[in-house]
Amino acid sequence: MTRTLRPLISRHQIAAKISEIAAIISQDFAGQPVVLIGVLKGAAIFLADLARQITLDATFDFIAVSSYGDGHQHSGQVKLVKDADESVAGKNVILVEDILDTGITLTYLRNLLLARCPKQLKIAVLLDKPSRRIQPVAVDYVGFEIADEFVVGYGTDFAERYRNLPDICVLEPPPDDV
Ligand code: IMP
Ligand code: MG
Repeated sequence: MTRTLRPLISRHQIAAKISEIAAIISQDFAGQPVVLIGVLKGAAIFLADLARQITLDATFDFIAVSSYGDGHQHSGQVKLVKDADESVAGKNVILVEDILDTGITLTYLRNLLLARCPKQLKIAVLLDKPSRRIQPVAVDYVGFEIADEFVVGYGTDFAERYRNLPDICVLEPPPDDV
């Protein structure tokens, strides 16, 4: 089925915003190493671009959770599908996520990582939908606040599709069946 994509945030706007965030992170952790933990799969592209603009001694790790099925609705439950490879104890950790929506996923991951006693835990999200929040979660670095619309591209998907779009687009709801 073909769905209409409406451009929302261009690759140029994304690149400029990531440079800003990376500069702030590089200042906040000046002289210290950081571990970037990306939430698979959505944050992979954001992490790759962010990491290359950060002027610190940085390592990567990845974590995967399942919360969304193939659709738009949050199941309300988060399951750890893949844990980070390295210990975070005593380290400066930046959790890197694509979208902060209800807050359920990041609340879960924040608690999981905090229980492992990192030196510091900060959270970076590319997109924030504040109007959708169910569980409040404090994030440190935010790319763009967006309205309650379903977006795809730049790593984010609908049923695993559209992740490779260079721009972030709104996936328009299908027309009503008649
Ligand atoms: P939360 O637990 O509701 O905050 O959900 C966050 C996760 O839902 C993100 O990691 C995204 O993978 C997914 N998500 C939320 N909104 C969208 C969207 O508009 N497009 C694609 N994925 C989304
Ligand atoms: Mg995700």
